[in-house]
Amino acid sequence: MKKVGLALLGLGTVGGGTYRIIKNNHDMIAKSEGVDLQVLCVLEKNEARAKELGVDLSIVGTDIDKVINNPEISIVAEFFGGIEPARTFLIKSLLAGKSVVTANKELIAKHWHELEEAAKKGKAGLYFEASCVGGVPIIRTLTESMQANNILSIKGIINGTTNYILTKMAESGQSYESALKEAQDLGYAEADPSADVDGYDASYKISILSSLAFRTKVPLEKVYREGISKVTAEDIAYGKEFGLTLKLLGIAKMTDGKIDVRVHPVFIPDLHPLASVRGSFNAVHLVGDAVGDIMLYGRGAGDLPTGSAIVSDIVFAATKKKHKYSPFVNSGKHLTDQGFIKDFKSEYYIRMTVNDKSGMLAKITSAFGKQNISITTVTQKAGTDIVPLVFITHETYESSIKKALAGIVKSDGVVSIDNVIRVERD
Ligand code: HSE
Repeated sequence: MKKVGLALLGLGTVGGGTYRIIKNNHDMIAKSEGVDLQVLCVLEKNEARAKELGVDLSIVGTDIDKVINNPEISIVAEFFGGIEPARTFLIKSLLAGKSVVTANKELIAKHWHELEEAAKKGKAGLYFEASCVGGVPIIRTLTESMQANNILSIKGIINGTTNYILTKMAESGQSYESALKEAQDLGYAEADPSADVDGYDASYKISILSSLAFRTKVPLEKVYREGISKVTAEDIAYGKEFGLTLKLLGIAKMTDGKIDVRVHPVFIPDLHPLASVRGSFNAVHLVGDAVGDIMLYGRGAGDLPTGSAIVSDIVFAATKKKHKYSPFVNSGKHLTDQGFIKDFKSEYYIRMTVNDKSGMLAKITSAFGKQNISITTVTQKAGTDIVPLVFITHETYESSIKKALAGIVKSDGVVSIDNVIRVERD
């Protein structure tokens, strides 16, 4: 049986889950995969955490050189998160010929090219299934199961915290602030929730996933990003009236040979498969030109679900005869705009507050008309003096909506433009 020496960098939630899987499922993995996984070194400052997990304290320390200089360690799994010291430690490990397995989406999204260069130099593997959508095997699906396809689109609920918040707002009419507080109390959202609610976490993931899907580097800077903090329970309730569900999606589409990649709140039809994904669950909907639609659903975070993806990568790295790298030029150099859509198209939900007086509707629809924006639905609730007015447009350019709204907001009788949310039906 091939003995595979491992180092675990960090024993936090995912590091701990990984250690438990390796311990509990060791014999099953050995029998089915022919590898005897042995944790030989753990970098962790918190001895109490190591004790809690039953890790032999003689293998626990803080010195990366003990990992680099140990010839029996062939795979390094990283759980620190963030850029440093993860970046330096992993580059050292790769150059020393040790394969790296990581859940670190920010590091891969920002420094993939450097890590890959070090992996090639060290003839080592670089695996990051756990970086995108936790336990859901989306990366292996893209790289090992979709070779026959041109991938046309990826749409995903790729952040569980925001999906939890939006589900709470939709199902109990809670405000954004109260749903966020509940997510924080339950440990889904961090005390500083920005990485999740402002869409950074999802933008790292869609940058990685779209690069693999379209077989070309999609740098993080090309991902349009907007979070959920402006969404209100009122918008979600209007959406329900129109048969629409609000989600924060990562979207990557190939349109007329150009890539359109973004993260923002979106209304989707209630009957879209992604609309039924509730709470902290994640899901990714893919369309390939041969296979058609595929959807993967599961836990995008957590100790054992993310640990599941880590251990799968460890087994993959341990059993691969030859490591495979990105199927594109993985460059960190400045890339031109060529290949990326500048002005994307969508349908739009627009909620505004206006004075309730004659001619308002005509004035607003005429301003939309001047930008060639056609309205599908308009709704106005009865009120006194000022009333909410909600429009849904046909598909139009983002730039046209911006131009029309810049004029409308200055019109006499328009009190405020309260929200603009894109609508995607396919
Ligand atoms: N914080 C992420 C989420 C999980 O809420 O989905 C790790 O990317």
